[in-house]
Amino acid sequence: MTRWEFVLPLDRRTDVPLVRQIAHAIADDIRRGRLRRGDPLPGSRTLAQSLGVQRLTVVAAYDELVAEGWVVTRRARGTFVSSELPDPEPRRVARMRAAASGMPPRAAFDVHAAPAPELPYDVPRGTLLFAPSRPDVRLVPRDLIGRAYRRAIKRGGGALLSYAAPNGHPRLRRALASMLASTRALPATADNVCVTRGSQMAIALLARALTGPGDVVAVERLGYRPAWEAFRLAGATVVGVPVDADGMRIDALARVVERHRVRAVYVTPHHQFPTTVTLSAGRRLELLELARAHRIAIVEDDYDHEFHYDGRPVLPLASEDVHGNVVYVGTLSKVLAPALRMGYVVAPAEIVEHIAAFRSHIDTQGDSVLEYAVAELIEDGEIQRHVRRMRREYRARRDTLVSELTRQLGDHVEFELPAGGIALWVKARKGIDVDAWSRAALKAGAVIVTASAFAIDQRPRPFVRLGFASLNARELAEGVRRLRAALPFR
Ligand SMILES: Cc1ncc(COP(=O)(O)O)c(C=O)c1O
Repeated sequence: MTRWEFVLPLDRRTDVPLVRQIAHAIADDIRRGRLRRGDPLPGSRTLAQSLGVQRLTVVAAYDELVAEGWVVTRRARGTFVSSELPDPEPRRVARMRAAASGMPPRAAFDVHAAPAPELPYDVPRGTLLFAPSRPDVRLVPRDLIGRAYRRAIKRGGGALLSYAAPNGHPRLRRALASMLASTRALPATADNVCVTRGSQMAIALLARALTGPGDVVAVERLGYRPAWEAFRLAGATVVGVPVDADGMRIDALARVVERHRVRAVYVTPHHQFPTTVTLSAGRRLELLELARAHRIAIVEDDYDHEFHYDGRPVLPLASEDVHGNVVYVGTLSKVLAPALRMGYVVAPAEIVEHIAAFRSHIDTQGDSVLEYAVAELIEDGEIQRHVRRMRREYRARRDTLVSELTRQLGDHVEFELPAGGIALWVKARKGIDVDAWSRAALKAGAVIVTASAFAIDQRPRPFVRLGFASLNARELAEGVRRLRAALPFR
């Protein structure tokens, strides 16, 4: 194992000779247990170099330590801590060793606790996860990404490894802008795009830029909790608005706006999270008009835009926004891979500058090499080809889950066929306690997430969100079999 440089504190301003200081520091390390019996000391030349002293000074210090019995020299092998030493101060040494092997369990000061993070599911191997919004990372084009990364780090030049602008590599901002213009009718240029580490960072930055203590953010009452927490961390109060088959109820939102100082509305209009419904055309217009009239920012989270199977995808609200109320948030987590942490904000250039400034204070910048690599994959059409492949695959998985649910659980559940997305919103028939079902399912080897996890009031409702993207056809069939076996009845 390579040894770390040996660090000894030397003070050149005192009268204590360097030889004495070196010998003393090493003896002290032995006494404290940092150097143990039999440990080798560095060669005199190496230590002299790292301390910036003459080699003879180190040799003299070692001689002194030998004379005092701390160390021994073995011809042609070097200098070692003596194995004959008595345990100098056993309790103290033991304490030092304990300290060296772990941090104190508690801090001696107060801390602002963050809400508990949404951790990845910690489940036994073989458990089938109907994860609410996960892609199948087994299908990620790893070779393609790996090759693009290698090319970027080689061809992009040294500049890619240096400090860079906080809004993302210009090549990626251009590539995203042109992709969004052609596939989502967003009239964006590179100046309207800020690359972030996933949409979670985008939402957290927006929360800071748009809201603060005393402000209210309206959200879907059944919705995406990590976004709510980001707004709460910025000091805002989150108020839930009901959702029905047409998405967020804008009449209810209007009442919230009358009562509170609403600065922002966070919505998932395309495939509402978690209920999968699409915000209807009428409500989109009402929402845009309400936002315009009250100078409210609409944060549009379009986390799975690419996965629309029946008919054309509904265009983002941002594509209809002529007044500058919508801030659009997108991600490559579902189409490519969550761990790449590639998200983006699309907004008027002025907002993008603010977001980038906030980002610079938290994260400095993104991974320029990865950003350059992904830009190249978009320019070459590779991401678009991958999206088409995944769309076909996930559509087939949706259909498999639908037919397995109908075949195996048809008497116990009901659901609408979603036109897109990566999950079904499934209602359990009367008599089924979904939370008990979820606990039993876990024992049977399947994870399902129930409505209470998505509800702002955390109250139980007879629904589960069954994500189908991360399981293949065989796993979906087996998963549903396990769910059937776990059905509880009141
Ligand atoms: C509704 C919604 N928004 C945002 C995200 C965040 O994705 P990321 O931060 O990986 O881009 C997710 C991921 O599960 C999601 O479901």
